[in-house]
Amino acid sequence: MPIMEHGFKWARVSLGLAVCLSALLLYMRPVVSEDAGGHEEHGEKSEKSWESKPYAPVESCVDCHEDKVKQMGLTKHGNKMDPRTPWAKHECQSCHGPMGEHVDAGGGKETVNRAFGKDSPLSAEEKSEVCLTCHEKGKQALWKRSIHAGKGLACTDCHNPHNSNPRHLKAEVEMNLCFTCHTDVKNDIKKTSHHPIREGKITCTNCHNPHGTLGPHNLSALRVNEKCYECHAEKRGPFLYEHRPVVEDCTICHRPHGSSHMKLLVRKSPYLCNSCHTGSQHRSQPRTINPATPGTNSWQRLAQIQAVYKGCQNCHPAVHGSNHASGKYFLR
Ligand code: HEC
Ligand code: HEC
Ligand code: HEC
Ligand code: HEC
Ligand code: HEC
Ligand code: HEC
Ligand code: HEC
Ligand code: HEC
Ligand code: HEC
Ligand code: HEC
Repeated sequence: MPIMEHGFKWARVSLGLAVCLSALLLYMRPVVSEDAGGHEEHGEKSEKSWESKPYAPVESCVDCHEDKVKQMGLTKHGNKMDPRTPWAKHECQSCHGPMGEHVDAGGGKETVNRAFGKDSPLSAEEKSEVCLTCHEKGKQALWKRSIHAGKGLACTDCHNPHNSNPRHLKAEVEMNLCFTCHTDVKNDIKKTSHHPIREGKITCTNCHNPHGTLGPHNLSALRVNEKCYECHAEKRGPFLYEHRPVVEDCTICHRPHGSSHMKLLVRKSPYLCNSCHTGSQHRSQPRTINPATPGTNSWQRLAQIQAVYKGCQNCHPAVHGSNHASGKYFLR
């Protein structure tokens, strides 16, 4: 019965293999289950089948990706003294997933468990999910509800853990990263009046959190004004005489990034003010009040004569509010 014998032989060989394999698996097990943390059920995690694949020792990565291993050692992710880092868990495989098959196959793209580059089969959400296993708190806490996530961006559209830029950004200077998509803002900050972002005095992320916020426009404040007061505290008041649009929203009169009009204004002064103060008021109808009319005081006469030629702030410098006892008209 040669066939049977063969069969037995094979059975014995495969049994031997199975024993070896399970020994290997047992050897790796503590490491694997440590981060699987109770997600043992295979059925439930069918999409994340990578969890059940074999890990390879990091030394094997060195053979073919030495540069990557060295470089990561210089970053926070590569700090094995910090138990929260990828390095303290499965090194490279904390992000790329178990790569035993990749090593066995002698490398190659097909066997890579989780790739993040342009031709990666993972969706944006799946890519981000990998980072979120460790970065679900702090500044990233609201990621899933953010505008950027909603528009299909992944963490890896802005970050590459393999580069040595600050925060692993995909540009050396933060604003240049943003400008790859936000060209309108790039144009704004070149205008004559602009927030000193180009000059490096403030950054986009002084005002925005690209990971998502509770406030409007990704602003890291609940209201626009709260953000402005952080650096322009003197505009907060409280004022004896408040100017309503100022209290409501600074961007009624100012553009946040840049403007061709002085002081970041949305329009030139008389037109700006006249967009609300029209009709019977002195500047828009300069000749309707006769300065000779009884009851017209000297101030009104002065306004009458000069308002035609001047910006409104020449006489109303306290447009942001006044604490002067006679500051009702923001003249002081
Ligand atoms: C025997 C050599 C070899 C070993 C060992 C090896 N790799 Fe690779 N790896 C390759 C080759 C070749 C490629 C394909 C490169 C290409 O086509 O651009 C690759 C590709 C990759 C990619 C690319 C994914 C993408 O975006 O395309 C990752 C990630 C990767 N390897 C991680 C690892 C990790 C982690 C280890 C250690 C567990 C490892 N490799 C061990 C040779 C190897
Ligand atoms: C913190 C998560 C993370 C860790 C840890 C990590 N990688 Fe990557 N890796 C990425 C991301 C994200 C990309 C895609 C970068 C891109 O192209 O935008 C990538 C891309 C790659 C690529 C292909 C693209 C390229 O630059 O050649 C290789 C190869 C690679 N990683 C190998 C490794 C090796 C080896 C290690 C261990 C030293 C490692 N990775 C550790 C996240 C990680
Ligand atoms: C296994 C956990 C883990 C994973 C997975 C992970 N990180 Fe990290 N990451 C850390 C830890 C820990 C730090 C250091 C935090 C600190 O020092 O406060 C860090 C730091 C960072 C930093 C700041 C680096 C610096 O120099 O300041 C960035 C950016 C970052 N991670 C992005 C990513 C991205 C993008 C991914 C997914 C591709 C990712 N991380 C995946 C744990 C992780
Ligand atoms: C639109 C671009 C963009 C996207 C998308 C993005 N980031 Fe960031 N990230 C930045 C910028 C810019 C900084 C530096 C400014 C700062 O510290 O807030 C940063 C800083 C960080 C830091 C270091 C600062 C900190 O929080 O301690 C970590 C960690 C980080 N990002 C993780 C992530 C993760 C995880 C994702 C995906 C969930 C992600 N980022 C998506 C642009 C982005
Ligand atoms: C001084 C605070 C501040 C800084 C710095 C800042 N922004 Fe803004 N940004 C705002 C405010 C406030 C709004 C909402 C304005 C509005 O409603 O017109 C806004 C709106 C936006 C918008 C949506 C509207 C639009 O103009 O397309 C984008 C995109 C944007 N900012 C990107 C950026 C980028 C990129 C940078 C860095 C180059 C940056 N911001 C720097 C305060 C700021
Ligand atoms: C890969 C492209 C990309 C990059 C890089 C990017 N963004 Fe965005 N951002 C978008 C898209 C898409 C939207 C959705 C609104 C739109 O279409 O303008 C958006 C929206 C925003 C908004 C909200 C606009 C609103 O009207 O509420 C702000 C603020 C913003 N981005 C700031 C930034 C900042 C700051 C950076 C750099 C740290 C950055 N973005 C980098 C693609 C990008
Ligand atoms: C992170 C700090 C910061 C925040 C937040 C901030 N600013 Fe500024 N702002 C500056 C700096 C710095 C200057 C330049 C001052 C200088 O050159 O003396 C400036 C200048 C200005 C100017 C004068 C511009 C000129 O051409 O002289 C206006 C107007 C202004 N900011 C309005 C705002 C408004 C409105 C907000 C809220 C949307 C705001 N700022 C939020 C830092 C900030
Ligand atoms: C009703 C329109 C209006 C509103 C609303 C407004 N501003 Fe202004 N702002 C002006 C005008 C006009 C100037 C130019 C004054 C001048 O001629 O010097 C100015 C100038 C400034 C300047 C530069 C000169 C200075 O006074 O320091 C800053 C900073 C500023 N505004 C911040 C703010 C902030 C912060 C808010 C919201 C709390 C705000 N503005 C709301 C009209 C407005
Ligand atoms: C978005 C609309 C708006 C803009 C723009 C605006 N204002 Fe006003 N302003 C108001 C409102 C509303 C009041 C309060 C009127 C009231 O209480 O009857 C007011 C009150 C005033 C007052 C006090 C008048 C009074 O009767 O108490 C003066 C003076 C004034 N604004 C000047 C200006 C100047 C100068 C500018 C341009 C720098 C300007 N305003 C831009 C809406 C605006
Ligand atoms: C030459 C100085 C001068 C200029 C320029 C000027 N104003 Fe006046 N404005 C005054 C004086 C003075 C008063 C107070 C009049 C009073 O006591 O009744 C006043 C009052 C006002 C009032 C309150 C009027 C009311 O009847 O409630 C408003 C609103 C106002 N100015 C808006 C403007 C606007 C808008 C501009 C620019 C288009 C402007 N002013 C330009 C001097 C001026």
